[in-house]
Amino acid sequence: MASPALGRLNCTVFINSLKFCGRRSFSTGTVRKSEKRNEKLSEYADGETHFGFEKVKEEEKSSKVHKVFEDVAQDYDKMNDCMSFGVHRLWKDIFMQHLSPVPGTSLLDVGGGTGDIAFRFIKYLKNSPSSSNTDLSSHVTISDINNEMLTVGKKRAAEGGIITAAEQVNCSVDWLEADAEKLPLPDSSYNAFTIAFCIRNCTHPEKVLAEAYRVLQPGGRFLCLEFSHVENDTLRWLYDQYSFQIIPIMGQLVAGQWRPYQYLVESIRQFPAQEEFKEMIEAAGFRCVTYENLSFGVVAIHSGFKL
Ligand SMILES: C[S@@+](CC[C@H](N)C(=O)[O-])C[C@H]1O[C@@H](n2cnc3c(N)ncnc32)[C@H](O)[C@@H]1O
Repeated sequence: MASPALGRLNCTVFINSLKFCGRRSFSTGTVRKSEKRNEKLSEYADGETHFGFEKVKEEEKSSKVHKVFEDVAQDYDKMNDCMSFGVHRLWKDIFMQHLSPVPGTSLLDVGGGTGDIAFRFIKYLKNSPSSSNTDLSSHVTISDINNEMLTVGKKRAAEGGIITAAEQVNCSVDWLEADAEKLPLPDSSYNAFTIAFCIRNCTHPEKVLAEAYRVLQPGGRFLCLEFSHVENDTLRWLYDQYSFQIIPIMGQLVAGQWRPYQYLVESIRQFPAQEEFKEMIEAAGFRCVTYENLSFGVVAIHSGFKL
C-alpha cells in the first residue's frame, strides 16, 4: 500500500511537472550575464536597437512590431495553441494563480492582445468563493498598442460569455489602445499590473517598467510572463531546433506567414535572461522581486511590489 509520504511526494512531483520546472537561482551567473548583455548592447550605436536579429533605428521598431501583430491578429490564438501544443494556456493559468485576484482588484493588463490574461482574471473571480458574497467591485483594463488585436479580443469576449461573467462578479471591463511605454493613465490608479509576452516587443522595456511603477498604487503588484532562457545545454539545443526549424514553417502552413514567426523566435533570444530582467525590475523601484521558471525556463514569471 502506498504510504501518505509517498502520496505527498507523487503529488509534489505531479505539481512540479505541471510547472515543468520550479524556481531556480542564477545568482552565481549574475555578473557574467550582465557583462554579456552590455557586450550585446554595445553592438548598437545610439538610436539603434534590435528587431529580432535585425539592427534597426529605434523609431522604426515600434511600427515593425505593430505590423507583426496586425498581420497575425486573426490567427494569433490558433497559432499559440499550435506552437506551444496548448501549453501557453497552462502558463497563463499559473500566471493568474500567482496573482490570485480577490474582489476589489483593479487590474491593468498591458499588451493584453486578444484578452487571454484579462479573461482568466474574470474567470478566476467568478470561481472564487469570496466573489459571491461581497459588494466590492473589480475592474480590468485591457490595453494594447494594436487595435487589430483588441478587436479580436472584443469579439472573443462577446462570443465567449466573458462580458456576462464580468457582470456577474461586478467587474467592469474597458479596452484601451495605448503604448506600454507611455500610458495615458493617471498615477497610482491600479492595484495590479500584468504584462504577458509583450515587454520583449517594446523598444524600451525600462520605460514600460517605469510606467508600471507609476500607474500602480503603493502595495500594488507587478507580474510579467515572458519567454526567457533555457539554461540546460541539451534542452536549449532541442528548443532552438524546434524554434528555428519548425515554428516559421508552422507559421507559413497554419497562418500563411513566415516572417512574423521568424521574428518571434529571434525576439525571444534578444530578451534579457531571468536574473538580468529581475535586476531591471528592481531598478524601476519594485521590491521583493522574484521569478519562477516554467518549462525549464522557456518562460518565466517575474513578480514585484510597489512598496
Ligand atoms: C504576443 S502578444 C501577447 C498578447 C497577450 N498578452 C497574450 O498573452 O496572449 C503581444 C502583444 O503586445 C502588444 N504590444 C507590442 N508592443 C506594444 C507596446 N509598445 N505597447 C503596448 N502593446 C504592445 C502587441 O500588439 C500584442 O498584442
